[in-house]
Amino acid sequence: MNALVGISLLLLLATSSSAADLRSHPAGANLTTTELIEAMGYTAEIHHVTTEDGYILELHRIPYGISGSDGGVRPVAYLQHCLLCSSSDWIMNDPDKALAYILADAGYDVWMGNYRGNTYSRNHTTLDPDEDLSFWSFSWDEMGIIDLPAMIDYVLEFTGQPDLYYVGFSMGTTTYYAMLSEKPEYNSKLRVGINLGPAAYMEHMKGPLTLIAPYSDDFDTLMTLLGKGEFLPSRDVTDEWVEKYCDDEMISAEICYNVLFLIAGPDSELLNEEYLPVILAHTPAGTSVHTVNHYAQLYVSTNFTKYDYGALGNQNHYGQTTPPAFNLDNVVTPTALFWGANDWLATPEDVARLATELPNVILNYRVPFDMFNHLDFVWAINADELVYNEVLNVLSQY
Ligand SMILES: *[C@@H]1O[C@H](CO)[C@@H](O)[C@H](O)[C@H]1NC(C)=O
Ligand SMILES: *[C@@H]1O[C@H](CO)[C@@H](O)[C@H](O)[C@H]1NC(C)=O
Ligand SMILES: *[C@@H]1O[C@H](CO)[C@@H](O)[C@H](O)[C@H]1NC(C)=O
Repeated sequence: MNALVGISLLLLLATSSSAADLRSHPAGANLTTTELIEAMGYTAEIHHVTTEDGYILELHRIPYGISGSDGGVRPVAYLQHCLLCSSSDWIMNDPDKALAYILADAGYDVWMGNYRGNTYSRNHTTLDPDEDLSFWSFSWDEMGIIDLPAMIDYVLEFTGQPDLYYVGFSMGTTTYYAMLSEKPEYNSKLRVGINLGPAAYMEHMKGPLTLIAPYSDDFDTLMTLLGKGEFLPSRDVTDEWVEKYCDDEMISAEICYNVLFLIAGPDSELLNEEYLPVILAHTPAGTSVHTVNHYAQLYVSTNFTKYDYGALGNQNHYGQTTPPAFNLDNVVTPTALFWGANDWLATPEDVARLATELPNVILNYRVPFDMFNHLDFVWAINADELVYNEVLNVLSQY
C-alpha cells in the first residue's frame, strides 16, 4: 500500500470506527482486492500462476472467515469474474452481502481468479503489455482453455483438495463451458458449477456490443476504432453509447461513462450506491479488444464458437475456414443456471437455449425480481436474498 493511501486510511480509522465506512469510502477506491479484504478484518493471500504461454496470473484467497483460523480443511470455492472485471467484483459490498465473504464465513476456502489482461494479470514472462501488441492477441478462448485450467490446477495442488466448487459470473461462465468442452478431464475436478448470468449464446444480446457487431468481421476496422490490442474505447465511442443507452436524467453521471455499466444496461436500482466510488475505481478492469469482439461475433453468428479470425486466419488456427463450435455435450459437471429477466448480456431467450443443450442442468433459476440486470449478480443491495442463499443451498447438496 502506498504511503498516501495508508495515511488517509489511518485518518479515516481515527475519525470513523466502522470498517464498512472505510471500505466504501472514496479513499478505499485505490486499494487492491487484498487490501480491501484486509481492511474488512479478513485474512487475504496473493498467489501467482504462470501459464504455458507465459502470462503471469494473480489469484486472491480468503482462506477462512472472519471468526475462523488456519486449522482444519475447508472445501474450496473458486470464483471467476466477468468481462472487464476482476477478483474485486466479489468483495465490493457489505460482508453479509458479498459472495466471497459469505462463502468464507460459511466455511469455504475462497479463491478468486484473475484472467490475463486485467488489472492484476497484466504481466507476462517476455511480453510487455504496453509495448507488445501480441500480448493482447487473445480472447476468452485462451482464458477458458489455458488460464482457467492453470489456476484450478494450482489451487488443487496448493490446498491438496481433489476437487472444488466452481462459481462463475458471465465471462466466468463462458470460460467454464469453453474449458469443459475442450478439456473434459476437468469435469472431475469440479463438484458443481454455479453459473451466474450464463453467457454462451449471444443471439439476443442488447446494448452497445451489438453496435460493434457489424465490424466484428473486420478486425482491423475495430482495432482502428478502438485503439490498440487493449480494450480502451475512445471518448467518441463512449459518447455515442452514452447518447444511445443512457437516459436523459443520468447522462452526466459518472456511471454512464463507465464502459462496463454501459455494456450491462440500465440500472435495476438495486445497485448498492454506497460502494459506487470503489466499484467505479475497480472497473473496467481491462481486457483485450479480441475478448470483447468475440462476444460481438457470437451475436452475429448465433452459435457458441471459438474466435473468428476470418477465413485465412481460421485456416491457420483451426485447419478450417470457419471457427469450430464448442461441444456442450462435454460439460457434464452438475450445473446450476441463475439468470435475470432484465439481463442484456445473458438474456432469458439465450439462457433457455443453453439450458436445453447442457447435459446436466441441476437447477434453472430465474432470479425472483423482474428488473434484475447483469451486474446485480455481484453488486445488488440484496443479492444475498435474491441469489446467494440459493447458491449456498446448491453447494450444500454436492
Ligand atoms: C486514486 O489514485 C489516483 C492516482 O494516484 C488519484 O488521482 C485519485 O485521486 C485517487 N482516488 C481516490 C478516490 O483517492
Ligand atoms: C511481472 O512479473 C515479474 C516476474 O514475476 C515481476 O518481477 C514483475 O514485478 C511483474 N510486474 C508487474 C507490473 O507486476
Ligand atoms: C450455426 O451452426 C449451425 C450448425 O453447426 C450451422 O448450420 C449454422 O450455419 C451456424 N450459423 C451461423 C450463422 O454461422
